[in-house]
Amino acid sequence: MKMSPVQRLEGRVDLPGDKSISHRAAMLSAVAEGTTRISNFASNADCASTLACLEALGVRVDREGSTVTVHGVGADGFRPPTAPLDCGNSGTTLRLMAGILAGQDFESALIGDESLSSRPMERVVAPLEKMGAGISSMDGHAPLVIRGRNPLNAIEYIMPVASAQVKSCVLLAGLNSDGETSVIESVPTRDHTERMLRWFGVDVREEHLNGGHRISVSGDSVLHARDIVVPSDISSAAFFLVAAACLEGSHLTLPNVGLNSTRSAVIDVLRGRGADIEILHARTECNEPSADLLVKGGLSRTGSSEVLRGGVVANLIDEVPILAVFGTQLEGGLEIRDAGELRVKESDRIACTVSNLKAMGADVEEFEDGLRVNRSHLRGATIDSFGDHRIAMAFAVAGLFAEGETGIIGADCAAVSFPEFFEVLRRVSV
Ligand code: S3P
Repeated sequence: MKMSPVQRLEGRVDLPGDKSISHRAAMLSAVAEGTTRISNFASNADCASTLACLEALGVRVDREGSTVTVHGVGADGFRPPTAPLDCGNSGTTLRLMAGILAGQDFESALIGDESLSSRPMERVVAPLEKMGAGISSMDGHAPLVIRGRNPLNAIEYIMPVASAQVKSCVLLAGLNSDGETSVIESVPTRDHTERMLRWFGVDVREEHLNGGHRISVSGDSVLHARDIVVPSDISSAAFFLVAAACLEGSHLTLPNVGLNSTRSAVIDVLRGRGADIEILHARTECNEPSADLLVKGGLSRTGSSEVLRGGVVANLIDEVPILAVFGTQLEGGLEIRDAGELRVKESDRIACTVSNLKAMGADVEEFEDGLRVNRSHLRGATIDSFGDHRIAMAFAVAGLFAEGETGIIGADCAAVSFPEFFEVLRRVSV
């Protein structure tokens, strides 16, 4: 894929449904009693993997454009799969499905592509084994073979890593446990699972502790099917927000973007560094807040240059590659720390971001847990996506304000979260 400089972005971008919320909508609808119609379901490859896994477990799924109808089978109604369940590139599919499968009275296997097979799975194996499931892994990696047990032992689990996938895995397993299962997190992670469980009528209890937060569900909870409208994906919006903010004269509307406070730190960071983003028509639908965003190009010079670290970084973890690109346009640059988890995402996102920024001539420094980028004049270069969708899209945006042409190798991987990305970007580019 070749990218050339553009003057500005103009118009309206209807983004696909939120990836994290779509995964949960599909899985929770499957374990619910009754039929759920999900509107604005994410069009991407990761969420397609989740639907395919559910179908292989005997769940009927009907698709019509971006509307997906899931015919729930209840907590114990899955059919043993006849082959390993393929999660493709999707960590959310694998880790959340592991939680559901641990509480089933049958054996199943979860597999993934090369990138997913190299990501750490011990973080879900450990709590599920504590709950009584038998799990074999390849030295802490997929494939996972899960010998489920129903009911599982209810546990209280203190999460050693800040991970919404681990939290969700344990809560989903807890729905088939013999009592109250709790997860304690010290850093807040995205809470879509909790919100959606409540939408389906589950009593999710939350308690604030000294230095933490306990979330609990009961093993006898029953989910009742209820239609869902998925807001658009803030992590996909981030590419357009950065591009439009950095290109003087841009005027771009992004309707109905999910603004859950465990995901929206990226907006605060962009605004705090001088981006002009208006939040319009704020509302809440299906327990998830959303709003229309209007971004106007040009950065004011009053931006903060504080280092990003701690809880805020957990909130914007998927946006770090595009924020690093944003940093090249800021007078004070941008430093992000406490982001070590980025090294075990779809790629080592710290190393890949740094290497691509360097290729474009940026002044960048790599740390074990993050990076620092100083204001830089970017030059077009050949960029490797490293098979990682967020790297491909972040550097496509960098190509819009670099001098000369930027080539992106393996840009197709954008389809993992945003298949329409390049087409939409072209349409609003002036
Ligand atoms: C996700 C949680 C995050 C995020 C990932 C999606 C989710 O990972 O990076 O893209 O849907 O729960 P962690 O589980 O590491 O927080």
